[in-house]
Amino acid sequence: MLDKTGIEPDVAACIAAELEKSAKYSCLNPDTLSRAAAWGLAHGRTNADAVKAAKRKLHQIYSAFLPAAARKKALKLASAVAEGEGAGRLEACMAILRLHASTAERIPHLGAIGRLIRSCLPDAGGTVLDLACGLNPFALPMLDLPADVVYLALDIDRDLALAADRFLKAFNPASICECRDVISSSQGRHADVVLMLKCMTTFERQEKGSAAWVLKSLDAGAVILSFPLASLGGKKKGMEGNYREAGQRMLADAGMRGEEVVIGNEMFFRASFERRGA
Ligand SMILES: C[S@@+](CC[C@H](N)C(=O)[O-])C[C@H]1O[C@@H](n2cnc3c(N)ncnc32)[C@H](O)[C@@H]1O
Repeated sequence: MLDKTGIEPDVAACIAAELEKSAKYSCLNPDTLSRAAAWGLAHGRTNADAVKAAKRKLHQIYSAFLPAAARKKALKLASAVAEGEGAGRLEACMAILRLHASTAERIPHLGAIGRLIRSCLPDAGGTVLDLACGLNPFALPMLDLPADVVYLALDIDRDLALAADRFLKAFNPASICECRDVISSSQGRHADVVLMLKCMTTFERQEKGSAAWVLKSLDAGAVILSFPLASLGGKKKGMEGNYREAGQRMLADAGMRGEEVVIGNEMFFRASFERRGA
């Protein structure tokens, strides 16, 4: 029987099972694999083509940012860093951040980004929710957030989420990093400030309209969105104008108001829902 997308569920499940067997993608959330399988089936004429198309999609939304060798190094460093302290721990965190395309270019600007986040937190405590976090939780020691801030983070990579969870708990036992597909599950959307860093286009590539849907589903005092101002290859190609327009449109559609702040190679929007007052 076909499901509502017109796809035979058994075939989709077989494609997802093939993806789960691959060394590169077995660590991903099952919801992400199912969505990629459905994409593959819609874009490949045979099942083998569907698996290839699904893998291309997973590359685009996940491994393009963190190739397998870099991920392996990050996991190794992360297990050491959870136990370390002081300057050694900071050095190891920097080494982890350098391994991911998104966090690497942010390193010289972590002080300014920390101030941006602090400007959205209450006077005491507060919660930060980092959606599609990648390796960003390892930036925590350089963000200089108050020690009582609870940091919650979600990403689709199970092993990295586990490593980041151990790391975050060393700062605050209430902090958590979980393996979750943010498009498939709307669980856990409440925080003083939600970070959606460089993930809006990644969401859109998985399901059209999902970035706006995730934004609207938030129960947050403030949201900090960001867009890259250069491609993975370093080209700028009019990205600033395009993302300014895209960011403003997404915020307006979600009923939010915000201001733009460019820090390094990244365009941030600090925004809040209009109905709660900006
Ligand atoms: C461009 S990276 C940004 C990482 C991080 N936010 C940063 O700026 O450093 C995109 C991230 O989104 C994650 N991701 C992709 N699709 C996702 C989904 N549906 N749910 C949760 N995370 C997702 C990927 O694993 C990857 O870490």
